[in-house]
Amino acid sequence: SDDEGTGEDYLFKIVIIGDSAVGKSNLLSRYARNEFNPHSKATIGVEFQTQTMEINGKEVKAQIWDTAGQERFRAVTSAYYRGAAGALIVYDISRRTTFDSVGRWLDELKTHSDATVARILVGNKCDLETIRDVSVEEGKSLAEAEGLFFMETSALDSTNVNKAFELVIREIY
Ligand code: GTP
Ligand code: MG
Repeated sequence: SDDEGTGEDYLFKIVIIGDSAVGKSNLLSRYARNEFNPHSKATIGVEFQTQTMEINGKEVKAQIWDTAGQERFRAVTSAYYRGAAGALIVYDISRRTTFDSVGRWLDELKTHSDATVARILVGNKCDLETIRDVSVEEGKSLAEAEGLFFMETSALDSTNVNKAFELVIREIY
C-alpha cells in the first residue's frame, strides 16, 4: 500500500470471553491461522494473536486476546480488559449453562472496560445442530435486549468466523 513503511494505520485490542470449552481459542486460531484443534487444552493465562485487515484502503490491525474461561487459570482481570475496543462474548449452542453465563460475562466486561466497547454475542459450535440446546431465537433476543451484535459460528467448519471478527473490527473502525 501507499503507507508501506509507516507502520499500521490503526491498532485495536479485542478480547474474547465466555465459559471454558465454548471454543474461544479455536475461534481465534481459525480466524488468525485458519487452524482448528479438536483436542485443544484449556487456556492458562492469556494468549494473543494479531490479524490485519484492510478497510477503506486503510490497514487495520487487531490484537485479539484470549484468556481462560476457568477462573483458576485466569490472569489479572483488569489487565485483560484494559484498553479493549471490542469484545466477543462466546457461548456453546450445545450447552445451555454456557448461555446462562453470558450475563455474568457481560457484567464483568462492563465493570472493566469502556462503555463504548463494540460487542458481539457469539453462539459457537453451530455445526452441532443435532444436539443444539439453545435456539437461534434465544441468542438473537438476548443480543437484542443487551444491545449486542449476534452471530452463530463454527470454528470447526469455519461458518461465520471471519464475519464475526470483522463485524466487531468494522464497528470499532
Ligand atoms: P478455555 O481455554 O478453557 O476457556 O476453553 P476455550 O473456550 O478456549 O475452548 P477451546 O477452543 O479450547 O475448545 C474446547 C473444545 O471444543 C475443543 O475440544 C475444541 O476442539 C471444541 N470446539 C471448539 N470450537 C468448536 C466448534 O465450532 N464445533 C465443535 N464441534 N467443536 C468445537
Ligand atoms: Mg482457550
